[in-house]
Amino acid sequence: MTATMTQAEYWNGAVGQRWARSQGVLDAVFAPLTEALLAAADLRPGDGVLDVGCGSGATALMAAEAVGAAGRVVAADLSEPLLAVARARPVPAGAAPIDWIVADAETQAFAGPPFARAISRFGVMFFSDSRAAFANLRRALAPHGRLTFLCWQAMADNPWVTVPRAAVLPLLPDASPPDFAGPGPFRFADADALRRLLAEAGFGAVSVAPVVRDLVLGRAADGSARAAAEAAAAVAVELGPVSRLLRDAEPPLRRAALAAVAEALLPHADDGAVRLAAGCWLVSAG
Ligand SMILES: C[S@@+](CC[C@H](N)C(=O)[O-])C[C@H]1O[C@@H](n2cnc3c(N)ncnc32)[C@H](O)[C@@H]1O
Repeated sequence: MTATMTQAEYWNGAVGQRWARSQGVLDAVFAPLTEALLAAADLRPGDGVLDVGCGSGATALMAAEAVGAAGRVVAADLSEPLLAVARARPVPAGAAPIDWIVADAETQAFAGPPFARAISRFGVMFFSDSRAAFANLRRALAPHGRLTFLCWQAMADNPWVTVPRAAVLPLLPDASPPDFAGPGPFRFADADALRRLLAEAGFGAVSVAPVVRDLVLGRAADGSARAAAEAAAAVAVELGPVSRLLRDAEPPLRRAALAAVAEALLPHADDGAVRLAAGCWLVSAG
């Protein structure tokens, strides 16, 4: 994103549209992490659940199934294109109704009874004032309610990002160094700072636990390493954090980046799939 772009502009623009087109791919890539998030959230039948930065809806749909028809789910996001995809997805029979809302979770006064649970899969790292935003989420929860979310550990602990990034950087001599402090995927890499932030926002019991999983970035139906590396390169270049480096790239540079990333991912292809490790924090705050 550019210096002057708001998060709403960013997630409603080209990036939001690319993510919206790739809902199935993203959900498949993140599946092992989603499983860890839902298990930790410990949703019970009848619970009210808030999904923060719900994107194209995977976790809200899973929450709706877990809490059943007696529960309720409010799924909030800034991005119209992602919510359009989410709204079009069928809600399983017997699941809670889902209220998909365009809202800034940082400031939204959520209507209705307080939630038993708030969850987020990578949707809480983009607030302009994180302390105010987490305090707002605490206010939306019942006194014994709990927020459970996934965020990324440091970039260096995420080879699924560093391997493609190292391949792209030589093509971008003017790339500015990453900003790990401001809104962005890696801003909560420091677990102690994150614990302090959540305590300052009014959360009592906070746990921050590492979750490390291999992500399948690309798969080839014919089992070929080359095709798997090319599929994985498309994911890295179009959707992963590396896509931020290439947001203004013209087609020739984008093609060169895809080729370089595919080459770098080839040694990681095995059995027709490219697998690389992803390091997250699984955070639970009551
Ligand atoms: C990395 S994406 C994750 C989307 C989704 N949770 C998933 O895992 O596919 C981050 C999401 O957070 C949303 N987002 C960012 N800031 C937000 C805010 N202040 N309020 C609500 N949603 C926000 C973005 O629009 C985007 O959909």
